[in-house]
Amino acid sequence: MKFGRWWRRRVRPHLFPGRATKQGRAVRSKKAGAEPEVPPQVAAFAPANPTSEAAQGPMLQRLGSWAEVERVFDAGKKCGSEPERIELLCKYYFDAGGIAEGLDPFSSAYLDQVLKLYATITGQQRYDAAHNELAPYLANQSVNFLSAPPPYRVGSTDFLGEFLVSWGFILKTLALKPGQKLLEYGPGSGNLAIMAARNGCDVTVVDVERSYIDGIKRQCDALEIPIKAHVGEFGSVPDPNERFDAVLFFEAFHHALRHNDLLCDLHNIAADDGVIAFAGEPIIAAGDFWEPLVPFPWGPRCDLLSLWAMHTYGWMELGFRESYFTEALARAGWQVAKHVCPITFRGNTFVARRSGA
Ligand SMILES: C[S@@+](CC[C@H](N)C(=O)[O-])C[C@H]1O[C@@H](n2cnc3c(N)ncnc32)[C@H](O)[C@@H]1O
Repeated sequence: MKFGRWWRRRVRPHLFPGRATKQGRAVRSKKAGAEPEVPPQVAAFAPANPTSEAAQGPMLQRLGSWAEVERVFDAGKKCGSEPERIELLCKYYFDAGGIAEGLDPFSSAYLDQVLKLYATITGQQRYDAAHNELAPYLANQSVNFLSAPPPYRVGSTDFLGEFLVSWGFILKTLALKPGQKLLEYGPGSGNLAIMAARNGCDVTVVDVERSYIDGIKRQCDALEIPIKAHVGEFGSVPDPNERFDAVLFFEAFHHALRHNDLLCDLHNIAADDGVIAFAGEPIIAAGDFWEPLVPFPWGPRCDLLSLWAMHTYGWMELGFRESYFTEALARAGWQVAKHVCPITFRGNTFVARRSGA
């Protein structure tokens, strides 16, 4: 499939376009520029397991003002093709580090600064997931959720393999037995949840985008497996009395603006001895190569590909420093363990249990 076609059909260019040096300096991903058929997710989420090769190549260019970012976006709009546009965007990052300097990242003043930056990026004065997290192109275009639920047919088997490894690692880490209850928030096309359901788990999925939920129902009907699939936002549940053995976010939690409230709400959703899990999220460890692109405890990721997605669709595309993320969990009463996937950053899984449980 051509890169450009895929981009029009399903684009969630999450995470980062570049690789970075050991010194924490972001560098341009060779893949992003050299192989135009590679979908943005490949470029956008190159695994953070730097090799000597990753330490080579030019640094991402810093843009110090939003006016400069807009000039690149304008140039991007004039690009003749999507690959050309991606190649251009992957050259830059926006240095937004000062936006909330000195503010407590758990304070409403900090949240206000993030929303101010969101307004600058998107041109929208307020953020509402039910409105801003939709993927309207799914309704208009022909994603076949039966034969090729993305990421199938999105890129090479290298790209697909990264997902397969991640799904395998996450499922192994969660170690759910048949009959145990899994709730996945933001399942997208539902591959992971459907695998758990095929293995006998009692699965519920909740996504804000109706086309994804319809796509999951179609797959489960064809496979003759039960699944409870509902349109809704993070934190909502079809049955308020139901408790889950595991509540999973895979590449989804970074859309949660009010994530601290959500972490507290999850106490009413996970079973007493249940877990909440976060996999494939842009949670950046100290000294990590991606640090320059999340230059604050949390906020919009500042690579231009992520900013372009926010600008174009209005999505919230956050990144978190790991120290902030673990403190957020602790404050909400969760104790976390990090499971590092040996093959891909996408598979890294943070599993949290109630403190003292
Ligand atoms: C980057 S996609 C990840 C999809 C899937 N987990 C995967 O990795 O292929 C993020 C998903 O979260 C959903 N989403 C974003 N914000 C949401 C919200 N506030 N409530 C529920 N779903 C949300 C999107 O519709 C999308 O399906």
